[in-house]
Amino acid sequence: MALKLRRLSNALGAEICDIDLAKPMSESTFGEIHNAFLQYGILLFRNQDISREQHIDFSRRFGELDDHASLPRDRHPDYPELLLVTNRPNPDGTPSESRYTGRSWHTDFSYTTQPALGSLLRCWELPEVGGDTLFANMTMAYDTLSEGMKKLIADLHGIHLSGTRKINAADAGEARRNEVMKLNPPIAQPVVRVHPETGRKAIYLGEKVKRFDGMTEEESMPLIDYLNRHATRPEFVYRHQWRKNDLLIWDNRCTLHQALGDFDETQLRHMERTTVKGTPSGHIVTA
Ligand code: SIN
Repeated sequence: MALKLRRLSNALGAEICDIDLAKPMSESTFGEIHNAFLQYGILLFRNQDISREQHIDFSRRFGELDDHASLPRDRHPDYPELLLVTNRPNPDGTPSESRYTGRSWHTDFSYTTQPALGSLLRCWELPEVGGDTLFANMTMAYDTLSEGMKKLIADLHGIHLSGTRKINAADAGEARRNEVMKLNPPIAQPVVRVHPETGRKAIYLGEKVKRFDGMTEEESMPLIDYLNRHATRPEFVYRHQWRKNDLLIWDNRCTLHQALGDFDETQLRHMERTTVKGTPSGHIVTA
């Protein structure tokens, strides 16, 4: 079966039209989806009124799923394969600690030694307007650097921290932040990562990186800022406006993403994510 595709932006992303993920899917159709995933970096499936089990089963076709042990408070109580990104208050009325998840440019689980291959985010509830997510193409960002800059960054490693947030840490839940930082020590990852399936090079940074391995923050930040600014220029970015029952998968090895706070926080935004484990990368930084 030839897939019906609609590109989402010049930089990245395609919608796979006319697919019902609740129905059985042949290996050859999945093969086409997988090829499109490698080509476009993000795939969108609209109108997927699927169960949690179906979300998990479809995700498993991309590889082994993470049980989100690095973010234990944010797991779905009955499905460890599902990570909650929600502002729905906890059953005891306290604010959800995952309500600010993803509010800076990042790639999932880069602060672990097994960063994510892909993430599949399903939209259950969304505010009347906003609640969008930005995605950026890191292969394009790498390819458009000068040869001099490519040489300069070739052997650098960025130190990825788990607990960085742009918003007030107290608002985001200090206890959760400290717990996550304790569970996830800083990890040095190559700044230029070779995609294990396509062989293409991509910038692997984001706002969780505050210094390069072997350098101070003061020395590192001007270059980190430059690379992040370059990588997230509008021409490399796609902005996704969610609809209920959208399922979106992104390739964490060659894209960055950021959830925007562009909505009325008194309205519900409830998303659930599976995370596909990637190949091991990086090492723990002790000093
Ligand atoms: C995430 O970073 O996984 C969450 C993205 C979003 O909620 O839009």
